[in-house]
Amino acid sequence: MIRQIDNYFVIETKNLSYIFHKNKVGYLVNDYFGNKIQIDEQSIESLGLKEAFPKGTSTIVDESVDPTFSADNQLLEYSFAGKGDNKEPAIIIKNDKRGYVFDFRFFKAEIKKEIVDIKLVPMPNHLDEELIISLKDSDLNIVLELHYYIANEFDVIVRNTVLINNEDEVLSIRKIASLQFDTINKNFEVLNLNGAWIGESHPEKQKLHRGIYINDSKSGLSSNAHNTFFLIKEEKATMDYGEVYSFNLMYSGNHQELVELNAYDHVHIQSGINPIFFDYKLNKGEIFVTPFALMTYSAKGYNLSSQRMADFINACVVNEHFAGHLRPVLINNWEATYFNFNEAKLISIAKKAKAFGLELFVLDDGWFGRRTNDTKGLGDYDVNKKKLRHGLKGLADKINKLGLKFGLWMEPEGISVDSSIFEQHPEYAISLERIKPSFGRHQLVMNLAKKEVQDYLINSVSEVLDSANIEYVKWDMNRNITDFPGNGQFHHDFVLGLYRVLETLTSKYPTILFENCSSGGNRLDLGMLHYFPQTWASDCSDHYERISIQGGLYFGYPLSCITGHVSAHLNHQLLRDTPYADKFPVAAFSCLGYELALDELTSLQEKVIKSQISFYKDHRQLLQYGDFYKIKEKEYAGDSAVWMVKAKDNKEAIIGYFNGLQSATPKETIIRHLGLEEGKRYQLSVFAHDHELKHFGSLVNMVLPFHINPDGALMRLINKYKTMPKENDNYVLDGSILNNGLILKSEWAGNGVSEDVRILKDFGSRLYYIKMVE
Ligand code: GLA
Repeated sequence: MIRQIDNYFVIETKNLSYIFHKNKVGYLVNDYFGNKIQIDEQSIESLGLKEAFPKGTSTIVDESVDPTFSADNQLLEYSFAGKGDNKEPAIIIKNDKRGYVFDFRFFKAEIKKEIVDIKLVPMPNHLDEELIISLKDSDLNIVLELHYYIANEFDVIVRNTVLINNEDEVLSIRKIASLQFDTINKNFEVLNLNGAWIGESHPEKQKLHRGIYINDSKSGLSSNAHNTFFLIKEEKATMDYGEVYSFNLMYSGNHQELVELNAYDHVHIQSGINPIFFDYKLNKGEIFVTPFALMTYSAKGYNLSSQRMADFINACVVNEHFAGHLRPVLINNWEATYFNFNEAKLISIAKKAKAFGLELFVLDDGWFGRRTNDTKGLGDYDVNKKKLRHGLKGLADKINKLGLKFGLWMEPEGISVDSSIFEQHPEYAISLERIKPSFGRHQLVMNLAKKEVQDYLINSVSEVLDSANIEYVKWDMNRNITDFPGNGQFHHDFVLGLYRVLETLTSKYPTILFENCSSGGNRLDLGMLHYFPQTWASDCSDHYERISIQGGLYFGYPLSCITGHVSAHLNHQLLRDTPYADKFPVAAFSCLGYELALDELTSLQEKVIKSQISFYKDHRQLLQYGDFYKIKEKEYAGDSAVWMVKAKDNKEAIIGYFNGLQSATPKETIIRHLGLEEGKRYQLSVFAHDHELKHFGSLVNMVLPFHINPDGALMRLINKYKTMPKENDNYVLDGSILNNGLILKSEWAGNGVSEDVRILKDFGSRLYYIKMVE
């Protein structure tokens, strides 16, 4: 609910309160953001800073109105330049009449129950209430609106900013933040998701120091280097203890998140479009709408803040046609074949996929034009008949006939110089006159700031989608933007052009499930999720590296939005060789897929994979939409991790135990802190592994009655049929035991193969299913 008490604006979500007021001068001062508090006319003034006099050298905004108010030592909803606030301004604008200094003061407030989506930038769905605070320059007719939104059932506050120029002079916007939040420092650390290709979204914490910390992207995409999500937490806060404020931005281009700590120990946070390369012009009567930003809070550590974000994103951010929908379990041919396939090979993989219980076949790169490798063909859409004799329709029909859905990879924003579209329309690519363009993955980028290019994409993609029964699209974008025009508008116009294309296509094809992919997570953000409900998080399919990547993402994104694949046991990115049984548990904590030659497996591997798919499908609702908890974080390379996904009603849960480097003196593994119902009985069962004999090498000779060569043909033969005993960690027990500590079977350490021993090895992993039985 949003209400006004005198000069105070009170925004209340299910469990949180956000309160600020307009002061005598007409500035907006933050009073509180945290757990819900009871507030009335009398008590509300007890909130907020008690500044009775201006500090030393500070400047007074308007001495005749309030001789005590200096903007510099206050917690403000928005900071302005040139009026004595020396913290980073939230807005920097300039026109010929005034220069840089504007005098924005409170003008009016409005609370609305009917929310209109003006569709300029992606906006959350199902918002129930909106507060609009309009500020006006004391002289010029320039209006700045701060918008606050809530959806009643959720604990997230949505913010954005609108600027309206009613003056004859052109207004140049150099910076305009979507959100500012000021608070008192409680020994905060900032946590960001940083990385690079195949090592995206690694969580990194750093203590705040005096000055400004910036997390940003300048590559034209939201980037795999610094994700738009971040949080601040008390230094001592953990998974389930301490205060956490988390933030995200629904934007897919250059963004900037800034955390400043000033001399008064105030923390000054902003999130929005990156001001770099940004100089947007507003003519008379024009408005600028910033992307939407999200914020939430938890007093109980970051499991709760991540669940609050996840619930809101699942219900209100992702494409509404797929909100809450179970995601299909798929097979993708990329790591199975790369560019080297034909119809027969694809059908051979698809047949196995069907037999194993998979639901969707995704044909990846290489099906069109001259595309025999990544130097050519992008931008063309004619089917490569050498590879696909019967065209896309022929293949899709066959796949459908097998009982699988058919999905297709595309990279509409990419363009190869060696393509027929580039030969006809070189001007479609982003480039500058008189200098050579820079290439990334041998390709250029389509200039989506141009309407004709947007239309080319919409038409070509539509033609493909109309040509066969395509029910899924993997939309890729494999490079950053360079050689961009210098008008200060290009990057934002590119993003707006992209959103127009995505809005048009997803409205035209509402039943097609689009997967967002940008070399993995190079554009993994809430703007993209608004159109494409799931994202291929990384080109790294090594399960152990994925613990860092997915573990990072789950601070701010839901499981249902992230896809993870089981790929060949010898991983192509890291060359780490891990049995399928150990790879699956990490991928199970995401939208599951397989990306390997399913038609080249041994019968034992087939059996393992079949049982994984069946386990996943049995528990898909929980694995995609349950509450995610970190029980133990992976802190360093070689460390272990424990995750849990739990139903909101506490009736079932799945625990993932992910081993790091094996120890010769392994510690006991204790399962605890699960928050299950005490006094209720639960069944805990391990999804145990079939251990291939060959992984024990010459050790098998200790138990066999005859000698075999561990690398010989006989071992390979026996290995197809014979496995080592699985551990039997199955119990029926009270919830209180699981909350306080169940000790699992001890690990292999040099000997002892039996049902009572857990064999993990380096990077081994396990799933445990827990179900209430009474
Ligand atoms: C990118 C994607 C991969 C795959 C290839 C195809 O790298 O992230 O998953 O689709 O392109 O070229």
